[in-house]
Amino acid sequence: MKLIRVKNYEEMSEKAAALLGETVAKKGDSVLGLATGSTPVGMYQRLADAHNAGKLNLSGVCGVNLDEYIGIGGDHELSYRYFMSKNFYSLFGFDESRAHIPNGLAADLPKECDRYDALIEKLGGIDLQVLGIGRNGHIGFNEPDEVFLKNTHIAELDEDTRAANARFFERPADVPSKALTMGIGAIMAAKEILLLVSGSEKAQALKDAMTGDIDPRLPASILQLHPNVTVIADEAALQK
Ligand code: GLP
Repeated sequence: MKLIRVKNYEEMSEKAAALLGETVAKKGDSVLGLATGSTPVGMYQRLADAHNAGKLNLSGVCGVNLDEYIGIGGDHELSYRYFMSKNFYSLFGFDESRAHIPNGLAADLPKECDRYDALIEKLGGIDLQVLGIGRNGHIGFNEPDEVFLKNTHIAELDEDTRAANARFFERPADVPSKALTMGIGAIMAAKEILLLVSGSEKAQALKDAMTGDIDPRLPASILQLHPNVTVIADEAALQK
């Protein structure tokens, strides 16, 4: 794992946008694995600005998101589809038929998981996967478990994950308890991975992920086995 140390969130976002921009400059039809959460928002803003300024052309890429809550539709303001549209795609007028996110309202959820894996395969796999990390070491919604789950699956969200995500909801009880998430297989098959980490509350998870045992109880630790991971972490996230 290659580590890039940066001062703060702004620098992390700057660096991440520059690296992702390099990938897109080399391959205009890159399949980008994308994440939600507060961490990538600054990067998305910078990428959209670069596109709008004519410095980068994002029109040919495909977005494949990691996860979506179950029970919430794409037009619900707390859904991850809505999040992506608001924080990235709408900022530069992206054709959202090129943006893929699991459907949390699918009537047959196991079928939806299979559809999502087949879609990723049909797109030729992921060129660059952007990841954040949960305080408990989750990536996407691959939560701490006894095994690493390979395929897209239904995830039961940890209490800690629900507590961390409660800030987006009016009442903590409103946070969904389940989500659909891309599995470890598609993430690890990505040609390149960019892990973004900011803030002291992620410091322990980052340290364990980078230097601890490879253990499904800390899902991000699997990234040690990937040949092309760049971690961009700020001072607060590196304090452990
Ligand atoms: C969320 C998402 C993850 C994200 C993580 C951290 O629950 N499912 O993909 O990386 O938690 O979120 P944040 O960036 O807001 O800290």
